[in-house]
Amino acid sequence: MHENTQIQNDNKFNEVMAGSGKFKPSRFSVAPMLDWTDRHCRYFHRLLSKEALLYTEMVTTGAIIHGKGDYLAYNEHEHPLALQLGGSDPQALAQCAKIAQERGYDEINLNVGCPSDRVQNGRFGACLMGDAALVADCVKSMQDVVDVPVTVKTRIGIDEQDSYAFLCDFIDTVVKNSECDNFVIHARKAWLSGLSPKENREIPPLDYPRVYQLKKDFPQLTISINGGIKSLEEAKQHLQYVDGVMVGREAYQNPSILAQVDRELFDQTVPVMNTVDAIKALYPYIEQELSKGTYLGHVTRHILGIFQGIPGARQWRRHLSENAHKPGADVMVVEKALEMVTERL
Ligand SMILES: Cc1cc2nc3c(=O)[nH]c(=O)nc-3n(C[C@H](O)[C@H](O)[C@H](O)COP(=O)(O)O)c2cc1C
Repeated sequence: MHENTQIQNDNKFNEVMAGSGKFKPSRFSVAPMLDWTDRHCRYFHRLLSKEALLYTEMVTTGAIIHGKGDYLAYNEHEHPLALQLGGSDPQALAQCAKIAQERGYDEINLNVGCPSDRVQNGRFGACLMGDAALVADCVKSMQDVVDVPVTVKTRIGIDEQDSYAFLCDFIDTVVKNSECDNFVIHARKAWLSGLSPKENREIPPLDYPRVYQLKKDFPQLTISINGGIKSLEEAKQHLQYVDGVMVGREAYQNPSILAQVDRELFDQTVPVMNTVDAIKALYPYIEQELSKGTYLGHVTRHILGIFQGIPGARQWRRHLSENAHKPGADVMVVEKALEMVTERL
């Protein structure tokens, strides 16, 4: 890359990043998504919104304690950043939470919503909804060793245990036996057998009023709503009833909505982030990562959807998809793809 371009990009980068790094309660967050919200994805999302709380993919206690890789690696610019843990052994969770706090994570979140068989065999994820006392133990043992907030992401029910009374009992038990005061609720139940994780994100019907009612009945808790939210207009509607909105698939597949989050949901005086500028601000990161041996496609797979609905979007996607995996592919592949969009603006 030309030196002047590098300097301009560095300036843009600093401008984009200025002000990030402070933790705020989660009025808007991007959901934890396995294989999607990895560190490259989060870095990119942070370029689009300084305010959104970002979640890691679920990381199991087993991976952190026994794994060979560094599952907690992230870039300082990703703050505010929550680590989502998967596990159900209070001691292992406490050990991992402590490590995560030392590594600088701003929040620890316990996964009580994932319905996959693999997770159920480890007795964690959504099946933990059936054992609220254990969830409380898990949360408490983490709270005993960290100062950062420990939060829970859960569903509105599991299998036949799907009444509002069941959900209230679950929350009540966790709250009374730990100091947890912050829950993210995916507004649909999970079927623990018979449906794939993907189907469990689509088939059980969404029930937003149930989550609103929960906030009414537990007004002292911070309640965020999740599931099927596709626009910031919808997010604003939800925020009339709950404290926070978590968006998953739409934020990943159409990340340009994140460019409007700071202005629309946090501070009307900040400008909407320009998506072309955000891509350019990613160049220094890409170069840094390539120099460490990262493969270009591992970064660019997260940016494919950024120009959704804009002329040139198809060419952008195609150029990246066809070229990012080639040996020696570097930032010029992205520059070239971007031209296919900017020349039509
Ligand atoms: C590819 C993918 C991976 C996911 N992985 C996780 C995960 O690791 N932990 C978790 O709590 N939820 C996970 N989820 C569920 C999301 O966090 C979210 O609850 C769900 O997608 C509903 O929100 P949405 O309709 O805004 O996408 C995943 C979802 C997707 C699409």
